Amino acid sequence: MTIPQSAAERIMARIATLAAISEEPDRLTRRCLTPALEMAMVTVAGWMQTAGLTVRRDTVGNLIGRYTAAHAPARTLLLGSHLDTVRDAGAFDGPLGVLLALAAVEDLSARGMRLPFALEVLAFSDEEGLRFGTAYLGSKAFAGGFDPATLDLRDTDGISLADAIRATGGDPAALAGARRAADDLIGYCEWHIEQGPVLEARDFPVGVVTAIAGQSRIAVRFTGQAGHAGTVPMAARHDALAAAAEFVLAVEARAGQTAGLVATVGRLLVEPGAPNVIPGHVLLSLDVRHADDVLRVAACADLAAIAQAIGQRRHILVGWAVLQETPAVACAVGLTALLAQAIAAGGTPVQSLPSGAGHDAVVLSTLTPVAMGFVRCRAGLSHHPDEWVAPADVAVALAALQRFLVLLAAAEETGSTETQRRGDAG
Ligand code: HGY
Ligand code: MN
Ligand code: MN
Repeated sequence: MTIPQSAAERIMARIATLAAISEEPDRLTRRCLTPALEMAMVTVAGWMQTAGLTVRRDTVGNLIGRYTAAHAPARTLLLGSHLDTVRDAGAFDGPLGVLLALAAVEDLSARGMRLPFALEVLAFSDEEGLRFGTAYLGSKAFAGGFDPATLDLRDTDGISLADAIRATGGDPAALAGARRAADDLIGYCEWHIEQGPVLEARDFPVGVVTAIAGQSRIAVRFTGQAGHAGTVPMAARHDALAAAAEFVLAVEARAGQTAGLVATVGRLLVEPGAPNVIPGHVLLSLDVRHADDVLRVAACADLAAIAQAIGQRRHILVGWAVLQETPAVACAVGLTALLAQAIAAGGTPVQSLPSGAGHDAVVLSTLTPVAMGFVRCRAGLSHHPDEWVAPADVAVALAALQRFLVLLAAAEETGSTETQRRGDAG
């Protein structure tokens, strides 16, 4: 193992360390409240403690590392991202934001510096929603808005979120009222791999996010009639998979009718799943997104009607359950302007772009102003094992984040940051 020559190379080395921590031997999958995620959290907690942060965990497994201010009372800036992943994930989606934040604090600590505000580096335990189907469980537990009904959701092994929390020693009942106090907060800044092609196409290493697209997560059930593949005539079938297949193609066609709309069927469970049995039951996931909530909601309504029409024609029962709706979020103007200024001060012309991907910043925006920075993503590839960012771009992002902290410190000293100074927070 080579000794990292720079903070950016140390980030890359730590990304590789975390990428080796997976639930599966041959690919990166790290779902919330699993031993693999716990190992990743403990690893990052160790790096935080070595850097002089005090660390704590919460009921849903989030890791919070705090670096106190130069004086008290002082407000707090939140930084970070998530450590859970999708299945067969890339190494950077989530960990890059956590490790950039940690590196910026490590640098302050190494220089014995304190800012006029505290810093909390957050590593959320469930942004992707892979295990229980609804995204942002970690940041919702932290920022408030956690829906207790979520506790009854079950993973593919039939384990409920409540039981998964109990298995880690947590108390599910503690979640309902849990919400980080907002009165001492300046805001939340999240850096993230772009997960798209824009910065690479424009040939820029970093950019600032203007807004984050809204998303709908829906479970669609097709219930037909299982039967013998060899004896049931085609005209007499109520094949749930044929109905679902027709719907999947209709989803693709409908999304193509509205500019900026994306719709995806990412998971499809077929039962009984035997080669010689006509599928009687299909459960599929539907993910619909758009920067404009009105267009997204209209597309979902159209797709619900299309699903029902397919069901009626094929005499198949169709169930439609909206698992989660998250509205589009505009990033805070003032905080984003400061982040843009920090990027420009490093000699990089500022690139502004929307995010089609969801991020914990969506949820944190209900608690405090948010700003996001993007790092160029090779070939725009993400949610894929070949996901990658260049160390040089990581170095640009880290330097921008460090300048952002300096600019924010000056603004905090003069009381000109975006949010009103409220009370004498600790
Ligand atoms: O699905 C998303 O947009 C994010 O990667 N969770
Ligand atoms: Mn992701
Ligand atoms: Mn992410």
